[in-house]
Amino acid sequence: MTESGNATKASWDPLRVDLGERSYDIRFYNNATDALVADIKALCPERAFVVTNETIWSAQGERFGAAMQAAGVDFTTAMVGDGEKYKTLDSASALYDRLLEERFSRRATVIAFGGGVIGDLAGFVAATFLRGVRFIQVPTTVVAMVDSSIGGKTGVDHRLGKNLIGAFYQPALVAVDLAYLKTLDDHNRHGGFAEIIKYGVIYDAALFDYLEKNVTRALKLESEPLLHVTRRSCEIKAAVVGQDEFEGGLRAILNFGHTFAHAIESVGEYKERQFHGQAVAIGMVAAGELACRLGMFSAGEQARLVKLIETAGLPTRIPEGMKAEQIVEGMKSDKKVVSGRQRFVLPTRLGEVVLRDDVETPAVLKLLRDLGAT
Ligand code: GLY
Repeated sequence: MTESGNATKASWDPLRVDLGERSYDIRFYNNATDALVADIKALCPERAFVVTNETIWSAQGERFGAAMQAAGVDFTTAMVGDGEKYKTLDSASALYDRLLEERFSRRATVIAFGGGVIGDLAGFVAATFLRGVRFIQVPTTVVAMVDSSIGGKTGVDHRLGKNLIGAFYQPALVAVDLAYLKTLDDHNRHGGFAEIIKYGVIYDAALFDYLEKNVTRALKLESEPLLHVTRRSCEIKAAVVGQDEFEGGLRAILNFGHTFAHAIESVGEYKERQFHGQAVAIGMVAAGELACRLGMFSAGEQARLVKLIETAGLPTRIPEGMKAEQIVEGMKSDKKVVSGRQRFVLPTRLGEVVLRDDVETPAVLKLLRDLGAT
């Protein structure tokens, strides 16, 4: 597909996530709720259970709900609290209660209408309710559109760490309307671009180059660059998941920057304010710098990475007051720790990364201090 001249289309060719009998489409719409709902309707044999939150529903839900009604889809909405702190077994339990009280059957379709928290939680409920019912993702944030809605990672957090309870459960459709991004707040919009930059570093130097030239326009939600970077990101995610659905190897490259990020997110202000993308940005800088110090990545490419992250309005240094030891401690509760060794995803050049589990803690502590930790 070429994007040139496509900004006025209602929808674009779907991408396929190729997983044998669990394959599905990622469909892109251009402010076209009726087309999106028509595709959902085709996959709803009976009633639908739409999981969302008040913030998203008040911004986008009226039009979506009206289109669902007009199309004759029988649906109920279930509200979850807004934010990561609601991605819990308690929230899942409240959703099971509703599904059972309202007598949803195995022919139910659970629809996640929202960002990553809603998608992960609703997907987990879809995976487990009556041993699994159909699931559709309608992502409304950048992170959800390019990352969390694709690939079937569903789950909830535990007090000891993020995403520790969950299941791989693929959706039947990911329905992406880029118009939903118009009501997204600045910090979530910029944060989502950290994931897009990630795809350039781990897989596609051409995407990285494109972002260097166009990230500011894409961040302003200009149609052509926005479509290009989101579609390319989804394509990469689909390709990686298609090769390694259950994270036996390759899929781990998607965690570039995330080992540091999850630890940064588990302390201080970042925990309170849910700056996931911002933490990923700092994590990518840290991973790039670590790779430089190990002699694997050039200083010139690291400088380009830092510059792109800055241009995207994202932070490149660890927030004031965070302690290096505390971050290293947070990294140990990461579920990607293998046989007691911390595994890092490190770039060898822009567009390629490798996994390393031989980095000693003192080197990590020094790195974190050099990036602003105390
Ligand atoms: N977000 C990382 C993955 O889906 O594997």
